[in-house]
Amino acid sequence: MIKINLGGCSAFVKDADYKEYLKKAFDAFDTLQAGDGAGNDFLGWKDIPVNTPESMITDCEAIRDDWKERGVNLVVVLGIGGSYLGARCAVEALSHQFLPKKDAPRIVFAGNNMSEDYLAELLDLMAGSNTACIVISKSGTTTEPAVAFRVVKQYLESKYGKTEAADRIVAITDARKGALKTLATQENYASFVVPDDVGGRFSVLTPVGLLPICVAGYDIRALVEGALDAMKGLEIKSEKNPAVIYAAMRNCLHTELGKSTEILVNYNPKLTYVAEWWKQLFGESEGKDGKGIYPASVNNTADLHSMGQFIQEGSRVMFETVLHVERAQRSVVIEADEQNLDCLNYLAGKHVEHCNHMAELGTKLAHIDGGVPQMAVCMEKVDAFNLGGLLYFFEFACGISAYTLGVNPFNQPGVEAYKKNMFALLEKPGYEEATRAIKNRL
Ligand code: PA5
Repeated sequence: MIKINLGGCSAFVKDADYKEYLKKAFDAFDTLQAGDGAGNDFLGWKDIPVNTPESMITDCEAIRDDWKERGVNLVVVLGIGGSYLGARCAVEALSHQFLPKKDAPRIVFAGNNMSEDYLAELLDLMAGSNTACIVISKSGTTTEPAVAFRVVKQYLESKYGKTEAADRIVAITDARKGALKTLATQENYASFVVPDDVGGRFSVLTPVGLLPICVAGYDIRALVEGALDAMKGLEIKSEKNPAVIYAAMRNCLHTELGKSTEILVNYNPKLTYVAEWWKQLFGESEGKDGKGIYPASVNNTADLHSMGQFIQEGSRVMFETVLHVERAQRSVVIEADEQNLDCLNYLAGKHVEHCNHMAELGTKLAHIDGGVPQMAVCMEKVDAFNLGGLLYFFEFACGISAYTLGVNPFNQPGVEAYKKNMFALLEKPGYEEATRAIKNRL
């Protein structure tokens, strides 16, 4: 179960102020639980841990096993935003950082950028691989994954023939509408549905996240069980509810102390993409109507040697939320050295993770001294069960926090602005007037 440590905030926040925001967060909790707040037709993610059909899990496992039998050693996962970051953060968190997983294909992600070099290099990789593809788009019309899919699909068809290529493609999209749905139906791709009432950034526990994570060889049952375990605690209205505490404190730091940036800090490189996922979750959910806390992230201790200077002494706009992992999964002990030329014998017999924890504690105290409030989100270890709990916790906390802030957590109207300009510049049919207008601006 996730726990929140507020110790690093006490020097900054008055108890009465925190209590005020706790009240606001409880009101937001009630709104989320009653399902009567803004965007309430997108609350399907809340019940996913209890509603995940066994057939969906076994369908994911069947594709994994089929591709394994056919010797597939590369799976290209195409998607952007919420149709990408959940799968990537889980695969990166659960993977060995250096060695490929035995009996599982390599997973690579594309369709999350428009770089020609990226796609060309992907084709280089596919040339020497036995490749399958998962294409994910809820709307089925997003340009970045659609462009990448056109390239990947044509490549697969030229390499394997149209029929076999279709057998190597799985589409995850809307049940009824969108270009990807039409294509999947026409080409007879195996398909999964993104539920209508689940938005992209809340979809990691739907097939959007579960299929790629399963194909990568990780235990999606444990991931969902972890989310279910977290859900049981998060649904209780209590001052111990970690989502309520987190939402209350971050809103208090933002509104009372003017802290406009939250930095998610991790001390385990496996969690780098959890921070990327979290940034999208909170950035897209809260950053609207001229409001929101800017979500940033650092990977320590690496970033203590770069961003650490700014956090310690730069403009005082931020607070930190540390992803505290209680224990490492592996053991490396620092040995004594006869010569001790590196002067590290004082660490002899100590686990590396002990040093990591001391770096974390030392940084906490230094940053508090430097005027940076800090709280910690504590998880036991980085495995599928605990990761499922962490991701569900952040989703739940995001709903409460956005309602506390007074915004609709489940829309993203601002994402359309760049698309309109890009379509006008690319001279997309239907954008003729916008094309004329934008050309006049240039
Ligand atoms: O959270 C969201 O809704 C967005 O980030 C979407 O996931 C992203 O824009 C991709 O959309 P789609 O899945 O429709 O291609």
